[in-house]
Amino acid sequence: MRHIMVMNPKGGCGKSTLATNLASYYATRGKKTALVDYDPQRSSLDWLDRRPAKRPEISAIEGYKEGLKHVARNSDIVVIDAPARAHGKELTDLLHHSDTILIPVLPSTIDMQATGRFIEELKATPTFKNRKVKIAVLANRVRDNTLIFDELDAYLTKLRVPYIATLREAQNYIRAYTRGLGIFELPNYLAWPDLEEWGPLIDWLNSRASRP
Ligand SMILES: Nc1ncnc2c1ncn2[C@@H]1O[C@H](COP(=O)(O)OP(=O)(O)O)[C@@H](O)[C@H]1O
Ligand SMILES: [Mg+2]
Repeated sequence: MRHIMVMNPKGGCGKSTLATNLASYYATRGKKTALVDYDPQRSSLDWLDRRPAKRPEISAIEGYKEGLKHVARNSDIVVIDAPARAHGKELTDLLHHSDTILIPVLPSTIDMQATGRFIEELKATPTFKNRKVKIAVLANRVRDNTLIFDELDAYLTKLRVPYIATLREAQNYIRAYTRGLGIFELPNYLAWPDLEEWGPLIDWLNSRASRP
C-alpha cells in the first residue's frame, strides 16, 4: 500500500485539486484507491460525492474525523489531502504514514515564503529524517510569462527539494472538479495541455526517487 500525501499549510494552493486528480489518475489505471480528506471543509469528499457511479471507484475516508482507520487494507494507493494546520502529534502521525509528500506552491511571494518555512520545519522533524519520506514541490496555477512565475521558478529550483512539475491555471481543473472527475477523465481534445504537464509529475511518482 502506497501513501501519497498532498500538503502545504497555505490554503488555496491546490491541495484538494491535486489530491482529487491523483486519485482519479490511479483509479483509472485500475489501482484500488482511497482518498482521505483531513480538511473539515471536505473539498475532496465533496468531489467524490459528485463522482458518477459508472466511473472507477475511489473510496472516501473522513480523515478529519477518524484518521486512516477505515482505509481498506487491500488498497493499492492512499491519497491524503492533508489538513491546513498539522503540527505536533498529528503531523508526526501523518508523516509516519506517508511515503511521498507533494507540496503545491502558488506563484505568490507570501505563499513562497510560507512554503519555504514549512519545508524547513518538515525536514527538521525526527519522523521525517528517520523514515526518509520523499518530498517534492510543484508550481500550481501558473500563468505564462509573469514575473512572479520567474521568481517562483528560481525559488523552487533553489529549495534543494525536487521541483517536479509546473501546472498552469486552467478551467479544466474546475470543469473536472464540478463533474467529480480528474483531468484524466476529460476528453483528450480539452485536457491535452494539462495531461502534458502532468507527465513529469507522474514519471516522478513512478520512479524510485519518490519512495523511501
Ligand atoms: N491549476 C489550477 N487551475 C485553475 N484553478 C485551480 C488550479 N488549482 C486550483 N485551482 C482552484 O483554486 C482554488 C483552491 O484550490 P484547492 O485545490 O481547493 O486548494 P487547497 O485545497 O489547497 O485549499 C479552487 O477554487 C480550485 O478550483
Ligand atoms: Mg482543500
